[in-house]
Amino acid sequence: MLPLRCVVGRHGFNFHCYADDTQLYLKFSPSGPPSATLTRLSSCLEEINAWMRQNFLQLNGSKTEAIQTGTPQQLRASPIASVSIFGHSILLSPSITNLGVKFDPRGSGGSGSSSDREVRGSIPVPDYVCNCNVAFVSFVDLSGHCDSCNYVTFYFVITTSCLFSQSILLRWTKGFNCSGVEGRDIVQLLKEAVQRRGDFTIGFVAMVNDTVGTMMSCGYRDQSCEIGLIIGTGTNACYMEEMRNVKRVEGEDGRMCINTEWGGFGDDGTLENIITDINRTIDQTSIKPGVHIFEKMISGMYLGELVRLLLVKLTEQKLLFKGQRSTTLLTAGTFPTKFISEIEEPLSGLENAKRILSSLNVPYDSVDARIVRLVCDTVSSRTARLCAAALATIANRIRVNRGLKHLKTTVAPGMVRLLAPDCDITFILSQDGSGKGAAMVTAVAQRLALQSHLVLQPFCLSVHQLRTISDLLMKDLIKGLGKHSHHKAAVKMLPTFVRSTPDGTEHGDFLALDLGGTNFRVLHVRVLEEEKVVDILGSQTCSISQDIMLGTGEQLFDHIAACLADFISSQNLKEQTLPLGFTFSFPCEQKKIDESILIRWTKGFNCSGVEGRDIVQLLKEAVQRRGDFTIGSVAMVNDTVGTMMSCGYRDQSCEIGLIIGTGTNACYMEEMRNVKRVEGEDGRMCINTEWGGFGDDGTLENIITDIDRTIDQTSIKPGVHIFEKMISGMYLGELVRLLLVKLTEQKLLFKGQRSTTLLTAGTFPTKFISEIEEPLSGLENAKRILSSLNVPYDFVDARIVRLVCDTVSSRSARLCAAALATVANRIRVNRGLKHLKTTVGVDGTVYKKHPNFSDELQAMVRLLAPDCDVTFILSQDGSGKGAAMVTAVAQRLALQSHLLEDSDGDSEEED
Ligand code: BG6
Ligand code: GLC
Repeated sequence: MLPLRCVVGRHGFNFHCYADDTQLYLKFSPSGPPSATLTRLSSCLEEINAWMRQNFLQLNGSKTEAIQTGTPQQLRASPIASVSIFGHSILLSPSITNLGVKFDPRGSGGSGSSSDREVRGSIPVPDYVCNCNVAFVSFVDLSGHCDSCNYVTFYFVITTSCLFSQSILLRWTKGFNCSGVEGRDIVQLLKEAVQRRGDFTIGFVAMVNDTVGTMMSCGYRDQSCEIGLIIGTGTNACYMEEMRNVKRVEGEDGRMCINTEWGGFGDDGTLENIITDINRTIDQTSIKPGVHIFEKMISGMYLGELVRLLLVKLTEQKLLFKGQRSTTLLTAGTFPTKFISEIEEPLSGLENAKRILSSLNVPYDSVDARIVRLVCDTVSSRTARLCAAALATIANRIRVNRGLKHLKTTVAPGMVRLLAPDCDITFILSQDGSGKGAAMVTAVAQRLALQSHLVLQPFCLSVHQLRTISDLLMKDLIKGLGKHSHHKAAVKMLPTFVRSTPDGTEHGDFLALDLGGTNFRVLHVRVLEEEKVVDILGSQTCSISQDIMLGTGEQLFDHIAACLADFISSQNLKEQTLPLGFTFSFPCEQKKIDESILIRWTKGFNCSGVEGRDIVQLLKEAVQRRGDFTIGSVAMVNDTVGTMMSCGYRDQSCEIGLIIGTGTNACYMEEMRNVKRVEGEDGRMCINTEWGGFGDDGTLENIITDIDRTIDQTSIKPGVHIFEKMISGMYLGELVRLLLVKLTEQKLLFKGQRSTTLLTAGTFPTKFISEIEEPLSGLENAKRILSSLNVPYDFVDARIVRLVCDTVSSRSARLCAAALATVANRIRVNRGLKHLKTTVGVDGTVYKKHPNFSDELQAMVRLLAPDCDVTFILSQDGSGKGAAMVTAVAQRLALQSHLLEDSDGDSEEED
């Protein structure tokens, strides 16, 4: 409301908000003739209108009413017949309806005892709440023009948000606790107070709960509005129930509006299973412990405090703010709910988080800010889901009551302040703008509540699950390193014979090949010792057709040699014999730096006759077959290693390489004493983990979904690289497509209609996920993409598709974070450190192109590896440069170590 205060203030009006901020009361003392006052009012409303437009809201002139009150004589003498508001001339009406109550000054209450005049304009804010008259009331008090102002008769619509039966207050909620009011008649108390003053009188008083007022005001214009919903300071809903079910009231016919007071859900322990210790603290420290438990999990009065308590808890566990809690952070109420909305703003959120954290006096860094955003997102997302579940229950109740298969209804959301990803009501409405918005809310809520439980829930991994996954992976890392256990390990932990990251003394010209990501590239690279730079002197991208990917090994290597020949001649390098670094992004058992046996193809490659063979040999043979150029020594590197090395040249603490692209994998510097399969105890060696194979022995059974199983079974290599199939770009789009098909089959999407395109594998590439999750253009992109899939979508479908994308990409980021946290922890423990500061070099289209992936990954790593301070640097020109670096480092170092024979015998130490 702050921006509005500025707008209104400029015109010299006082203002006041009520009805959960949906209504505005403007008051002023006119200093000139009424016409001047009205002109001032008009321009103030013009400006409010402009402000609303900027904020995707809309004032609706055609639904505006204005009224003038006064004694019959005053009214007859009044020069005012109409008011002009944003271009509409509005004739004065004899009566207006606000919040469901009709105000008619000619009735008994308006008998003219007042000698003041009032002009009341009711300007509905229509489509942002619903397509009906949610009143925006401006009161203009012209009493300053009256000589005989003795007293005014007001007409009150008391919109309450307390628990009322008739007008007896059952109990206070939301922080109110005035003594002597519970159990008493509110109307009576009000009348007594007015009498005590004696300077004005009141007419009739209508008592309405805020949900009912909201529903009524909406229903005034749209008769299908039969649910009123409030998600503001508190939360509640009312709906039209069949009289035959309202056993406490006489009569069987028709319907009656029931104020559910759903905030009290759980007061009898029903929600025990989902209540957290933080919820318990919120309840116990509230003014009314033990009551309105559901409201305390959802509404604006408590959300900020929920987040604050979570932040305190994370700080105590040293996961935030270096473990330092400030007095401000420890003080209740210092994190109002509006901070959540500010921090979750798509564009300015992180900056807002930093500003807010500064005001809380905590020593934050940029990862803290991300974690705080994650906490806000978790809390608001739970709110939206709980609310969706409750609203879905009511919608279903109405549907079943009426014996309908399908219900079309309208919800009047009174004040929806809390923007949340799953049920972003304001957003839906502002986008929709057609007035169907409120019905959408029901539809979204109904469908989301169902789908999130049944279909998407298995994809939502908790921090606890991620910790378990990390523990399992740690065991697998150790198994993979063991001399005796290695052969049966799912995570291969391959020695790379890279024993040192660059020290800056490397130099020379190199050729590089980069095969296995989105592009196959050939490069000419120069490493300059003096300037510590790696220059790409030339590069060429060559395509690799599906035929080659699935053809014979000979065809593949001939193709590679042909591309190399082309490039060498275009660069005039034919006369030179340059050393070559080969980034080959597949799992290889390296015997030495220039001998690399392909263990198996992954990521859609399946050329025959290559598995089990030495890649260097195959390449050299292909070059010899051509005979038109020569190559020098060859160093083989995995893309993770290339990435680590190219980043390591810039930052020498870079000792982890991470790829989240077509596939996923990581390498890191392991202590030689732990690399049991390679001779030697001193120093370190880079280990290519091949973590994509995690789960191949069934370890991940508990988190694998039926969709993951389908992805695996329909892949070129079923049963292998299970972890990669849950994470990487080659599979994410397909995971989303299969989920969409499933939701459609369950009639939760596209009216149950599946198109042939949607049913065809590969029609939903992973880049669609990034496009749909774009903060600003995402929903528009979703619509475009759904059109191209030939499915009959509506606006709700687009939102649900976005939720599906978000669920799938978020699982991917979280799994990756769990794996990376494991590796970072491993390095820390290896070195006997309490705290590790390290750098990860990262590459891959998923990490680079997805709008939120890197944020979520980094924040989760911090949560899962609290003792590791991990810096992420982006690899800039791919791992080709890194391959050249490896070759350069290999030239610098004498390679002494070699692979020891594997043995099948189990060793106790490794178990
Ligand atoms: C590139 C590297 O930049 O990233 C490749 O040069 C790597 O070696 C690739 O395989 C991974 O990303 P993607 O998304 O292309 O698989
Ligand atoms: C696959 C490969 C692995 C590579 C990763 C990322 O998992 O097996 O070697 O590093 O994809 O490209």
